[in-house]
Amino acid sequence: MDWGIRNRLSRIFQPQDGRTLMLAVDHGYFLGPTTRLEDPRATITPLLPYADAIMLTRGILQTCVDPTVTVPVVLRVSGGATIVGRDLANETITTSVRDAVRLNVSAVALSIFVGSDYEHQTLANLARLIDEATPYGIPVLAVTAVGKELEKRDARYLALACRVAAELGAHFVKTYYCEDFEKVVGGCPVPIVIAGGPKLDSDMDVLRLAYEAIQGGAAGVDMGRNIWQHDHPVAMIRAIRAIVHEGATPQQAYELLRDLIHAQAPVGRV
Ligand code: R5P
Repeated sequence: MDWGIRNRLSRIFQPQDGRTLMLAVDHGYFLGPTTRLEDPRATITPLLPYADAIMLTRGILQTCVDPTVTVPVVLRVSGGATIVGRDLANETITTSVRDAVRLNVSAVALSIFVGSDYEHQTLANLARLIDEATPYGIPVLAVTAVGKELEKRDARYLALACRVAAELGAHFVKTYYCEDFEKVVGGCPVPIVIAGGPKLDSDMDVLRLAYEAIQGGAAGVDMGRNIWQHDHPVAMIRAIRAIVHEGATPQQAYELLRDLIHAQAPVGRV
């Protein structure tokens, strides 16, 4: 693999264990000012010290993240559809590789919608992006199965979507955890990171999701809502970090989470 691609990937995937904890804050590109991401700077800033990389759009990077930060940027470069529009899958490439270079990003990210009316268009977007980004040494993250496609969250569908992304040359893939996740990982020759999805019912559910994904062969997580929609987002990202990088079990991570929340609480409150 090209030196530049390897170098950028090693900023995202920590060389000591090959894993990553990416913080996803790109949701506004189709959801608008979604809950607890209304003021992106306020949400993002306290979490940055605990993220191996941050995934977001050009607009939020430029307006809400200080350019002196050293956290690697995974820039979302696809979009063009919203939650109130006709079809979320109808995406195009929204940011050029030239602009990604200007912003000094460590990777670019684009969604594919396998099985949708826009399957061909979004796969062609991915192929084009890889052709354009590779000569600059910029890795490409393919994001599979969002929107309506989430209804197909099973190993057969996700394995197909991830494999297709890898066949087109994606350097890493983001997908969802599912039953028989090992089959998804086993059929995909590039690293997989998992999204968290909508906020889960309990803290333990979130920690188990991260743990089982890592046990199942994920190279990390790219989580958003289950971190920053938590009442104690810093405590939650640190607990997930313990699972990703320190081998913590869900129970150990849960105890850390409770300790951190307790330590933050004003005297007399938990
Ligand atoms: C979805 O298209 C976005 O790329 C999000 O970054 C992704 O869904 C991960 O965030 P969450 O953990 O909130 O699902």
